[in-house]
Parts: sequence; C-alpha cells; structure tokens
Amino acid sequence: MREETIRISEAEMNQQRQFAQEFFQLPDRPKTYFIVTYGCQMNAHDSEKLAGMLEDMGLTAAPKKEEADFVLHNTCCIRDNAERKALGNVTWLKEVKKERPEMMIGVCGCMVQEPGMADKLLRQYPFVDVAFGTGNIHQLPELLYRAVDTRRRVVAVPEEQSTLIEGLPIRRESDFQSYVTIMYGCNNFCSYCIVPYVRGRERSRSADDILREVEALQKNGVQEIMLLGQNVNSYGNDMPGGVTFPQLLHKISQAGIPRIRFMTSHPKDLSDELIEEMARNPVLCRHLHLPVQAGSNKILTAMNRRYTRESYLEKVEKIRAAAPDVGLTTDIIVAFPGETEADFEDTMSLVRQVGYDSAFTFIYSPRTGTRAADMPGRVDPAVATQRIEKLIALQEEMTAKAFASLIGTKESVLVTGASRRSSQQLTGKCSRNISINFEGSPDLIGQIVPVRITAASKTTLKGEIIEGE
Ligand code: 5AD
Ligand code: SF4
Repeated sequence: MREETIRISEAEMNQQRQFAQEFFQLPDRPKTYFIVTYGCQMNAHDSEKLAGMLEDMGLTAAPKKEEADFVLHNTCCIRDNAERKALGNVTWLKEVKKERPEMMIGVCGCMVQEPGMADKLLRQYPFVDVAFGTGNIHQLPELLYRAVDTRRRVVAVPEEQSTLIEGLPIRRESDFQSYVTIMYGCNNFCSYCIVPYVRGRERSRSADDILREVEALQKNGVQEIMLLGQNVNSYGNDMPGGVTFPQLLHKISQAGIPRIRFMTSHPKDLSDELIEEMARNPVLCRHLHLPVQAGSNKILTAMNRRYTRESYLEKVEKIRAAAPDVGLTTDIIVAFPGETEADFEDTMSLVRQVGYDSAFTFIYSPRTGTRAADMPGRVDPAVATQRIEKLIALQEEMTAKAFASLIGTKESVLVTGASRRSSQQLTGKCSRNISINFEGSPDLIGQIVPVRITAASKTTLKGEIIEGE
C-alpha cells in the first residue's frame, strides 16, 4: 500500500458506531430517510453504504422523498448537467421544507468534493443541513449527530482524498446482484475529467478484504457480482509485489459465485494476462466495457489517454481472437476542444470498425480545474449536437447488427425482475450484458435460466426459455 493511503482505523470506526448509538437516543431525531443517487455505479454503491449506516442509526427508509425526515443527495459532477440536476433537486426541496421545517437536507458525494463547492453550499443553500465529501462518508453518524444535537449546519470535506474505508454496513439493493469495490480513486488525469480531483489517487483494497466480502456474498446466495473501480486494470499497482487484477479475478472466480463482471477498464492498462483470463475463465461475463473516448490520435493525445487509435484497435483484435463471444461497449466524448470534422470522422470510422454492442455518448462538458477547460478550440454547441446525433444513429445501426447476430443463439440470463407491462413477462441480462425479455414465472427472479434468442428490438433482445435444461 502507498504510504499516503490511510486505512481508517478500527478505533475510528468504533467511534462512529458510538455516535450511531448516541444518535438513536436524541430527542427529535429524524426517523426516516430517503437517498437520491446521481451518477455511476460507484455512487450507487456508496448509497448502499450510506443507507447501511442510516439504518444502523435507527432510521428506516421512507417511500417518498417528500415524506422523509432526512433526504440525502449523493451527487455526481462528471458533467455540468449532472451537477445542475442535483442542485435543482436540492433547491426544489426547499419548498417542501417550508411546509415541514423539521425535514433535514443533506448533500454528499463527488460534487461536494469539488474545490469551492462546500463554500457555495454554505452561502447559497442555507436550507442544506449537512454536507460532506466522498472521503468522509464513514463519518455520517457523527455529522448527523452534531447537526441534530447542535441544530447547526455541519459541513465536512477532507482536503486530501487518501482514505481506505473498511467495515461499513451495507444495505444492498438486490439479494442476487452485488457491487464490490476493489479500488478507489484514479491516477490518470484524462484532461477532461474531474474524477481524480474529487475521488483522489488510486487506493486498492487488499485482496484478503475483497475475498472475505465475496465469500460472504456467496454464502448469501448472490448470483452475480460487479467489481468496481475507476480503472480496475491498475488494481494493485499501489501495492508492489501484490496481486494483479487478472490474478484477483482468478481468485474471486473460485469463490463459487456464478457470474463476475467488472468496470471500468482503461485501454492503456488492458493486459494480455487479462485477455487470457477472460478467454479461459467461464465465470467472467462475456462483456468488456472499454472506453475509447475518441478515434483521432490528435484528440486522444489532447485528452491524455496515453494510447493511440492503432494500439486500441490492436487490443480489440486480440480480445476478438482470444474470446470472440465477448461483447464490447464503450464511452465516447464528442466536441472535445479542437475536434475538427476530420477528427470526428475518425471516431465514426472507429465505431464502425469495432462494432460495439452499445456506447455511452457524451458532449464534452468543461469542468473547472481540469486541463481541457483551458484549451482553445471550443466546438460550437450546434455542431456538437449534430455530431452526437450522427454518432448515436451510427451506433444504433451497429447495435442492430450485433443483436441480429445473436438471434437463434442460446444465452444464460440472470432474471432481474418482471416487466412492467405484464407479470408473466420477465426481464434479465445475458452474460454479454444485453437486456433480454421473455415469458416466464416471477418465481424465476434471481435465478440464471437458459433462453433462446428469437428477436431483437432497438435496445433489447426477445427470447424464450429453453425448458428441461
Ligand atoms: N465531459 C463529457 N464527458 C465526460 N466524461 C468524463 N468527463 C467528461 C466531461 N468533462 C465521460 C467519459 C467517461 C464517462 C464516465 O464520462 O466518457 O468515460
Ligand atoms: Fe476520469 Fe480518465 Fe480516470 Fe476514467 S481514467 S476516471 S476518464 S481520469
């Protein structure tokens, strides 16, 4: 472990448990909570930890945020619209609070960790009672205790994001699919991205801690785990001589959980060792999310991605040769500063060449403090919109092609729920991470079943259960 990484001590965790108990004794404490989550899976998983702590403090989940005594917003700041949405919803609650002055409002997560945001919340959002960053979520019992006890606003944002927190209670959203964080933070400093500033440097959890968590999930009957990290391929780089990511995958896949997924992989760190592990290990899902961001070498350099179009495509070829059934997905940013029509066409041709199952597409959003925010060559918003529409249309074509190639194949599907339209219509994900709808009994929810693919729509596949297998 790097010297700077501070593992939160058992003594401090005990202190927080003490605060949780004392909170329970406070008169007029909030009794119910509602968490509003924005952003990525990492945030969704943080919300499961926040819910776990709140329940340990004696709060119960409210069915609606308007009815909750404590509404906590776990925010995202990756793009400007994520931030505006969160702040807009926080402001909307101000009106509800006028009717119910006892309501407490909290804001936490990445946005609060942005330089200057804590001050802004203090000045412009006087109805916010508690605010804290991603680096001190474990202190929620203490912060809420102080806010209720003193009836004053409490804001806590650590300057350096260097903590590794183990042992938080987790209230998991699903009984059969679970997130497991393997590392926190990011060292890459892609020039457009705010994540390294708000989530700090890479800190890997120890393989023993991860395996203990995975084994407990297996005992509880979990069918699928998603390993989380901003860049899972550099797992363990901060613990020289320790376990690498492919080795970790190998160990985890022996725990007896039928399916393992992971995200996100940075292409520059995707090793041959990982490709080999994916090719030979059937427990690893047939899906690789490999964000390319752009298809032009000029833009990739300006983005500080540290790979080229050619080296990316070479890795794609290697994966396709070693594991042809693996579906690829990606993230793409259009209208990065300086992106010309020719650069954009390079992205289009790369998308055509790779043939992704699907892609998340974004218009570049300047983030204060990142290097790209000061780069010249801002693209006209109307041009940016045209480009993203063209890209989405192309990806839809590619998705249709990929889906059509799956018609007639047999897929194993983890059934995640009943469709809203009919209780006999089930929905689930195949190993390749594509949604599949089919008829069946709701008793199958939480199980992995064999399904024959019969048809494809724009974003999902249709199928029928293969009986007697
Ligand atoms: N503007 C637009 N998209 C961004 N992403 C990250 N930062 C920005 C930004 N400033 C996208 C990247 C990343 C995904 C999670 O969000 O494509 O992979
Ligand atoms: Fe952001 Fe790049 Fe790190 Fe991903 S790898 S979190 S895009 S800095």
